[in-house]
Amino acid sequence: MKKILVTGGLGFIGAHTVVELQNEGFEVVIIDNLSNTSINVLTSIADITGITPDFHQIDLRNKGDVQEFFSNNTVDGIIHFAAFKAVGESMHKPLDYYENNLGTLVYLLQEMRNHQLNNFIFSSSCTVYGQADELPITEKAPVKTAESVYGNTKQIGEEILKDASNAYNLNAIALRYFNPIGAHDSIKIGELPLGVPQNLIPFITQTAAGIRKELSVFGDDYDTPDGTAVRDYIHVVDLAKAHIAALKRLIYKNNKASFEFFNVGTGTGSSVLEIIKTFEKVNNLKLNYKIVARRAGDITAAYADTTIANKELGWKTEKSLEEALESAWKWQQKQQLKQQQQQ
Ligand code: UD1
Repeated sequence: MKKILVTGGLGFIGAHTVVELQNEGFEVVIIDNLSNTSINVLTSIADITGITPDFHQIDLRNKGDVQEFFSNNTVDGIIHFAAFKAVGESMHKPLDYYENNLGTLVYLLQEMRNHQLNNFIFSSSCTVYGQADELPITEKAPVKTAESVYGNTKQIGEEILKDASNAYNLNAIALRYFNPIGAHDSIKIGELPLGVPQNLIPFITQTAAGIRKELSVFGDDYDTPDGTAVRDYIHVVDLAKAHIAALKRLIYKNNKASFEFFNVGTGTGSSVLEIIKTFEKVNNLKLNYKIVARRAGDITAAYADTTIANKELGWKTEKSLEEALESAWKWQQKQQLKQQQQQ
């Protein structure tokens, strides 16, 4: 049985990926510092799969702890999710972002080199393309100067991987995620935003739940069919499965270069208003929303050309936007029920 280390394995995308790994027969060891999630997620993963993954509460910034982990554990691959991800915050705390998102990447790669480990999957982002000149966005689109420190950590992360995989016996794949949403079918794991959500879907579900008074739609004067910004929203379970496909590509040595990168999206763009309408329809409710000014730093439109990912990874999305928005709402309702029971 292949053993896979998942850093940030109790986070939103990490937990869904751990479930898919276990479903596929991989043995999983998780490292997470619990800075943006709860230990209860471990129990939820066990509830879904019947297996409790090995868990180490380690902060990857503590190099000594990372070294100790690798002295005691051998793994066949690493999927590295652990990172900060708030775009706005990254502008106020650049050094924290560079340390946490890039310092830890270097530590992990050094340990891989020291212990002759191979096969590394990196969480990258479509943010590396900025506002692409052509839509849908292919992997050939140029990487644009990052608009945020967070975005820069993803770009530099990819460069570090490219250089390290050139110099050492290391194979790596960066997955450039579009917008991950939704929750597992079991509604046992989902997104757990801290404080006021910055991303669209958790803000929508919290507004529907009455936690937020109304949703602000950031701008209706974009050059898009209905004037609101367009994104490629991918179900988190489909995204999780892309990691398994990428990992297998490396384990079975089907990769064509030591460093590769792929777009992971659905290939379809949806506007903010389309998301609101679909959310209302599938969940049979009305959302309170108003149009406000554009949000600084937002681009007009981004959606993936997934041709290369579909062909090379042998992977494609299976879930619909409707399913994703339905599961997001069920997850929100479940959180509220839990809170009421605790009171
Ligand atoms: C953001 C990040 C991106 C990151 C991704 C992670 C920016 C510029 N980009 O993407 O780097 O990888 O999150 O999920 O922040 N919207 C509203 N009202 C809201 C919230 C959002 O109208 O209350 C709109 C936004 O203007 C945007 C769309 O909804 O058009 C999606 O926003 P969001 O979920 O924050 O994702 P991105 O901005 O695409």
